[in-house]
Amino acid sequence: MECNILLLPGDGIGPEVIDATVQVLDFVAGRRGHKLHYTRELIGGCSIDRHGVALTGEVLTAARSSDAVLLGAVGGPKWDDPLGTVRPEQGILGLRRGLEVYTNIRPVKAYPALADVSPLKAERLVGVDMVVLRELTGGLYFGEKRREVVNGREQALDTLVYNEDEIRRIVHFAFRLARTRRKHVTSVDKANIIETSRLWRRVATQVAAEYPDVAIEHVLVDTAAMRLIARPASFDVVVTENMFGDILTDEAAVLAGSMGMLPSASLGDSVRGLYEPVHGTAPDIAGKGIANPIGAILSGALMLRHSLGLEAEAALVEKAVENVINAGCRPPDLGGRLTTDEMTAAVLTACKVL
Ligand code: IPM
Ligand code: MG
Repeated sequence: MECNILLLPGDGIGPEVIDATVQVLDFVAGRRGHKLHYTRELIGGCSIDRHGVALTGEVLTAARSSDAVLLGAVGGPKWDDPLGTVRPEQGILGLRRGLEVYTNIRPVKAYPALADVSPLKAERLVGVDMVVLRELTGGLYFGEKRREVVNGREQALDTLVYNEDEIRRIVHFAFRLARTRRKHVTSVDKANIIETSRLWRRVATQVAAEYPDVAIEHVLVDTAAMRLIARPASFDVVVTENMFGDILTDEAAVLAGSMGMLPSASLGDSVRGLYEPVHGTAPDIAGKGIANPIGAILSGALMLRHSLGLEAEAALVEKAVENVINAGCRPPDLGGRLTTDEMTAAVLTACKVL
């Protein structure tokens, strides 16, 4: 099989973790005779420096015509001016919207070997294995925004809009996924206060009726935030709107020991997907060669699974990562000293013996 992959390494540690991921992908795909063709383009701050915008039309077109997009991270202090009208994050949002990838999949697993790295008591982490599905192309991120002066005071407005179709499609995704797992969906909303959440809950309830074999519970977002820490193993598939998902997944990252461990996949109606580690650009360690490549490598595994249909190869990468972690390999964010290259080499070696 031949596949075209667009690499968007971006800023900060993005290029370092993407290079690591390409090595692992080439090895596991190449071993079974698959050929991955890469194109490399700019996104985020480096694109602003070169083209004046965070995402050019050409790059979006290249993304649309590839089988999958692998993104590093965008942003950094250089482009942080709050008054600036061009911002690196516009690159990611433009890509998510432009590719119509409305379901963001963020698996969160607590590796027992990393229990000492998490601030939570080890016994709370036993059995933590959830997937958070975050709606990615609607809500506050994309609603109408305004700044205006009213009665001499500056005022800002963001709007939160969801229609029933946008809710239904991601909730269906959650139920289909739950059927392959522990058959439990937690729909997170704020239905006691917010109108879009009341619609969310109604649609989620309707969809749930089509999956009698899967349990559903509705949890308010504030309670969900608490339960993520108090009883994290009680979640299987979590589905929620864009902003709640953004906040809850950073919180959930603590369960895995470090943001550096978490992958993500974003999918729409086709198998073409956008894959990115959940961590950001980490400007403090960029260029030092010590970034944890695991989040990106696991994002590569999700790409093998969801966009390229290479389930065995995806599972192999995930197993290799687990073995490497169990063997005690740790980059600095997990309290160890291994460099990005050393972690990558360890994953490659683990792949070879599997
Ligand atoms: C994430 C990030 C992004 C978001 C930023 C970088 C735009 O926090 O992927 O969670 O808010 O969605
Ligand atoms: Mg976030």
